[in-house]
Amino acid sequence: MSDRSRLPPNDPRQYDELADEWWRPDGAFAMLHWLARARAALVPPATRPHALLVDLGCGAGLLAPHLAGKGYRHVGVDLTRSALAQAAEHGVTPVNGDATAVPLADGCADVVAAGELLEHVPDWRRAVAEACRLLRPGGLLVLDTLNDTVLSRLVAVEVGERLPTVPRGIHDPRLFVDDRALVAECARHGVDLRVRGVRPELRGTLRWLVRRIRGTGPSAGRAPRIRPTWSTAVLYQGRGVRLG
Ligand SMILES: C[S@@+](CC[C@H](N)C(=O)[O-])C[C@H]1O[C@@H](n2cnc3c(N)ncnc32)[C@H](O)[C@@H]1O
Repeated sequence: MSDRSRLPPNDPRQYDELADEWWRPDGAFAMLHWLARARAALVPPATRPHALLVDLGCGAGLLAPHLAGKGYRHVGVDLTRSALAQAAEHGVTPVNGDATAVPLADGCADVVAAGELLEHVPDWRRAVAEACRLLRPGGLLVLDTLNDTVLSRLVAVEVGERLPTVPRGIHDPRLFVDDRALVAECARHGVDLRVRGVRPELRGTLRWLVRRIRGTGPSAGRAPRIRPTWSTAVLYQGRGVRLG
């Protein structure tokens, strides 16, 4: 048993122990790369100079390459210093802090991103309040997270954490976020959030896994795409605008 597996589920120290995995396309965080691409696709080009995108729980900045050319200054907030150091190498301005108490001004952000963050935060409502507080009127919130359902526990933890795309023990399913509660919480803070289910494409993911298991180099092939799906029961994206 590795030291990491002795850490409690969702213990943030796991990210330090997995620090070398962030930027490996075939590493333990592979699916975060696929999700970052899909999240960035929800972000339009900036409409004004010096537009600011605040990336809550930015990790090692996997969103950064997908925002290239869109015209944002990319500020990343994260608890994990080892991840932030890597984010800085990819052009992200690092802020070491908690997403539930962000040291940035009200209304400073044109876009707030919270990718695969809320399901790791014991008080996710507080993180949502912070995300909404940071947005200027008309600003955009984009996020993805795991739903608080039996199916989500089965797929993301029981199955997902046994596959090489999700580190084992990285989730505490008790923190998973009900989509209707999230929409209601955003509305309370002036953000009209729309959600849709997403999932990795099946054939692409199977091909990726086979290459990975055979050791033939998954990074040689195209990374699987994240596709919309009819159900929000497992993984879902949210996109919402802060009302004026
Ligand atoms: C699953 S990773 C997602 C990273 C990144 N958003 C991505 O998609 O590549 C979760 C990240 O959230 C960070 N995190 C967890 N709880 C946090 C909190 N309360 N405040 C700030 N960051 C947090 C962790 O350190 C980790 O980098």
